[in-house]
Amino acid sequence: MTRNLLTFILTSLFFFQGYENRVSSDLSKYEDKADSIISLMTLEEKIGQLSLFTSDWSATGPSIRNDYIDLIRQGKAGNIFNAYTVDFVKELQRIAVEETRLHIPLLFGYDVIHGHRTIFPVPLAQASSWDTAAIRKAERIAAIEATAEGLNWTFAPMVDLARDPRWGRVMEGAGEDTWLGSLIGAARVKGFQGSGLSDKRSVLACVKHFAAYGAPQGGRDYHTVDISERSLYEWYLPVYNACIDAGAGSVMTSFNEIAGIPSTSNRWLLTDVLRDEWNFNGFIVTDYTSINELIPHGVAANLAEAAELSINAGVDMDMQGSAFLDELPPLVAAGRVSEKKIDDAVRRILVTKFRMGLFDDPYKNCDKEREKQEIMTPEHLGFAREFAARSCVLLKNEKNTLPVPGTVRTLAVIGPLADSKADMLGSWSAAGDWSKCVTLLEGINNKVNGRIKVLSAKGCNINDSNTDGINNAVSIALRADFVILALGESRDMSGEAASRAKIGLPGVQMELASAIIRTEKPVTVVLFNGRPLAIEELNALAPAILEAWFGGTQAGNGVADVLFGDVNPSGKLTMTFPRNEGQIPVFYNSKNTGRPINPDNPYEKYRSNYLDSPNDPLYPFGFGLSYTSFSYSGITLNKNEFHQNEQVTATVEITNTGDRDGEEVVQLYIRDLAGEVTRPVKELKGFKKVLIEKGMSIGVTFTLSPADLSYYHQDMSFSFDPGEFELYIGTNSSDCVSASFVISTPQPP
Ligand code: BGC
Repeated sequence: MTRNLLTFILTSLFFFQGYENRVSSDLSKYEDKADSIISLMTLEEKIGQLSLFTSDWSATGPSIRNDYIDLIRQGKAGNIFNAYTVDFVKELQRIAVEETRLHIPLLFGYDVIHGHRTIFPVPLAQASSWDTAAIRKAERIAAIEATAEGLNWTFAPMVDLARDPRWGRVMEGAGEDTWLGSLIGAARVKGFQGSGLSDKRSVLACVKHFAAYGAPQGGRDYHTVDISERSLYEWYLPVYNACIDAGAGSVMTSFNEIAGIPSTSNRWLLTDVLRDEWNFNGFIVTDYTSINELIPHGVAANLAEAAELSINAGVDMDMQGSAFLDELPPLVAAGRVSEKKIDDAVRRILVTKFRMGLFDDPYKNCDKEREKQEIMTPEHLGFAREFAARSCVLLKNEKNTLPVPGTVRTLAVIGPLADSKADMLGSWSAAGDWSKCVTLLEGINNKVNGRIKVLSAKGCNINDSNTDGINNAVSIALRADFVILALGESRDMSGEAASRAKIGLPGVQMELASAIIRTEKPVTVVLFNGRPLAIEELNALAPAILEAWFGGTQAGNGVADVLFGDVNPSGKLTMTFPRNEGQIPVFYNSKNTGRPINPDNPYEKYRSNYLDSPNDPLYPFGFGLSYTSFSYSGITLNKNEFHQNEQVTATVEITNTGDRDGEEVVQLYIRDLAGEVTRPVKELKGFKKVLIEKGMSIGVTFTLSPADLSYYHQDMSFSFDPGEFELYIGTNSSDCVSASFVISTPQPP
């Protein structure tokens, strides 16, 4: 076929037909189109579509290594990541669509995890807002900014359920609960993908890391995962599944093995579960070089074996490893991998590119005007500020230390995180520019605007043993009538490859805190960190503690809004804070055991407890205070005994008993007292975030259906049992009112 004829066929295919985003009905139309391209492709060109390479970066901006440009030109690199800005993307896309034989556009991927240029709070902080609308909005803004800079694919949401705060990547997820994590994951997918993939302000979502990457032994990143099939199905897998149901178009495999089989070569996981059980019809990309890592994992003797295992397991795209590029041609020649397998993978990727409208307009995200106008707009920054405040969790507030009283004339802002711009972004901050961040000190100065005197001192570094600055910090504290102590982790102490064996305050920060608290000035600790910390000692000493996480570009302004009472804190933890590392894993929905702790004698022998630590955590899942207080009435059920398919309705009255309006996250938990399989002591099954004016009461009603009571039985069927259930409603997972009901045993016909 002459080049002109080929170009004519492709041009008519790509440019004259257009398409709408009616996903399922259009899928077969796109498959037909993809197949007509596939019929024209050489094996090398097909494998090029299955390959994803990173661009290089230089100090002055992005540049791509020449060999990758050559690979694009030869049709051997069908997808690129870590390349953004309109000029850069446009040039790479031009090479792909003008200089390659088949003119197939590139995907441009990037880790847009909590914002692109405008950085929002880290995902664990966002989850603490229990506000799925806000989470969805943040991802919408992230998608708008990312697509304004040429990107069309984000490696998010990360939805790995995590119960071990030593693991650094807990900052990227939604915490320890499956039910809440599923809602949040779905909201994030919908935010990213917006009204449909063809929209120029939508990015393709990539659900990661499939699967159970959040359960590494000892909390050590990349480590072995060994959990039962039941735990996988019950706790870990539903969150990914919820994101697939929400329409996520791609999935990333995880680095870890599960029970001896690395995810990237796990046919059961990628094909039986993801494709056959869940009907996922997008494409599966590996994590960074994770095909190559099958060799050190010890399931492949060489790269050829690794490539064979992973494509046959169900992987469609190789991130950065060159395993497909180098090894698939000889594997196909030797009959070890069928060309059909490769065609299937290419089809999924081309269909995605069709769905995204890239064949209609490969430059749809290369608009210089949008790049100028839609990045870090006042609206985006305003929302970032609001969200930073909404993500804060008030952990302690003895004697109403907070908000900062109006009588304060001199305020001291002390600590290694008081004025640290770079740390505010947290890990995975995409194209966020730390120099544009607002620190706590800046936020406070913006707030008080010269009306009160603000002093400051660093006191110590985040993580070394130098105590030289502590005396000066104490003298500054003594000159003030209120002290704000900004403590925590540096941004790189959580995130990837940032596991910690000890999760207390790093360095000499506890010494600084003790010295400042000993001044007996009113002190509030503000914590900046990307994981639950073990801060029992700090909690015992400090009168007030506000968990601010890493709040992003507007962190300082948002936290100042909370400290000064312009925003009443309403966040609640979505991950348990342990007292000490020895308790880990400690999470709210654990099993009772046959010898549960005796609450009246917590150290009783021959019970499931420790000799040297309470079982209960420092702050439980769902915990968070407000500047006001709430009281809960008893629970009213619509009835106490239900037939098999009836709904349970539970109502509680909540009164704002304090002196300011406030929002409360009302949480509903259940417990199945006797199942065919042991059940957790509590399971979250609902929540409502409600605003209650001071002095007012409102009724909150939850409805439970049989699906909410169902779980995987011995034969792995998903159903519920007749019998007695406990129902709890409360302000956190341990402080609840309760009621019980019975599901009646079906009568024989
Ligand atoms: C991470 C992924 C990320 C990828 C690309 C890997 O190291 O595990 O989450 O998407 O790099 O940056």
